[in-house]
Amino acid sequence: METPFIFGKLAGETFFTDRDNETSRMITNFKNGINTILISPRRWGKSSLVLHASKLVQKKDPKIVFTYIDLFNIRSEEQFYQVLTKEILKSTASKLEELIANSQKFFKSIIPKFNFSPLPNMDFSIALDWDEVKKQPEELLNLAENIAIDKKIKIVICIDEFQNISEFENPLAFQKTLRANWQKHQNTSYCLYGSKRHMMTEVFSSYSMPFYKFGDILFLEKIKKEDWIPFIMEKFTQTKKEIHPESAGLIATMVECHPYYVQQLAQLTWLRTAKKCNDTQVMEAFESLVMQLSLLFQTITDTLTSTQINLLHAIINEVPKLSSKETLYNYKLGTSANVLRIRHSLVFKEIIDIQNNKIEFLDPVYKYWLAKYYLKI
Ligand SMILES: Nc1ncnc2c1ncn2[C@@H]1O[C@H](COP(=O)(O)OP(=O)(O)O)[C@@H](O)[C@H]1O
Ligand SMILES: [Mg+2]
Repeated sequence: METPFIFGKLAGETFFTDRDNETSRMITNFKNGINTILISPRRWGKSSLVLHASKLVQKKDPKIVFTYIDLFNIRSEEQFYQVLTKEILKSTASKLEELIANSQKFFKSIIPKFNFSPLPNMDFSIALDWDEVKKQPEELLNLAENIAIDKKIKIVICIDEFQNISEFENPLAFQKTLRANWQKHQNTSYCLYGSKRHMMTEVFSSYSMPFYKFGDILFLEKIKKEDWIPFIMEKFTQTKKEIHPESAGLIATMVECHPYYVQQLAQLTWLRTAKKCNDTQVMEAFESLVMQLSLLFQTITDTLTSTQINLLHAIINEVPKLSSKETLYNYKLGTSANVLRIRHSLVFKEIIDIQNNKIEFLDPVYKYWLAKYYLKI
């Protein structure tokens, strides 16, 4: 039997819950050509939400075409232009002949070289003359807009893991080039999403940055416990099992409503349930999840310095003032300047996140493991 929960893949259709407000805001933006910036820590549901909202739009309006680009393994401008060009061509043609005709029509000075796979799935790789691209990236950056005008369609370019552009050689100059071209588009809009809240926030909301006021910024929250409970209960019922609402709530609570972990823990609990599920099964499933991850957590912890671990200890203990004399002394943190540095490095390593001066562990299961098995508190 198929299991009723999903994690590690995009949550679509029946696996998708809640997010009604965010979905309708995205749909409005997509329909009206408003750029959207979606920010949240990883595994909170950005990619799933974009897919969900774009599918709903596509169903109603086939004249809006979506191009999906994932920058997760893109490390340079050259690769960026390649994947951008490829995905635009792919999403705007239904047949190979059309794709080739389009490239002959819309390229003037840059002549891309195609390498088609023998399979009939239209997959291909593309090679661009990098010297030529550097001279006039406009031709590629305006490709979607030119196709949209010609075919009388609207295009929404969705770029996942957008924070990766900060690792390109000259990110600021690159962002300026993108913005300068993209802001002129009337028929193409952009949905840019990524984790690393700090970097994303800086790129899109600092006055001095090229992408300042580029679009509607949406900070995605976790999904609330009240919404998880009916979702989990329904999945159990559909598969002829039963879970008490309190136990469903416990699943959400144990992983602090972290979307990926809620689905994972629900799955592990479901697997342990013959017919009726109670708190015992949830707690057993949770411990097995922690055990499953302990090797990974040990590896992460090995990369931390002892002061970094001391600060995490203080955070777990919810010490109110991390830089007070007493805390510095009790947790062997050195100076208060040191605390600031450690905080930065832990944010950079994506162990913690700071919002409105509130510090949180990004991974609730890691927090639990660190407290119980490493620090033994
Ligand atoms: N709306 C949702 N309903 C149910 N589960 C979700 C939802 N959004 C995310 N999830 C869960 O979280 C996991 C990670 O979602 P994903 O969209 O890949 O996050 P992100 O792109 O932010 O890293 C999914 O595989 C799924 O298990
Ligand atoms: Mg994602």
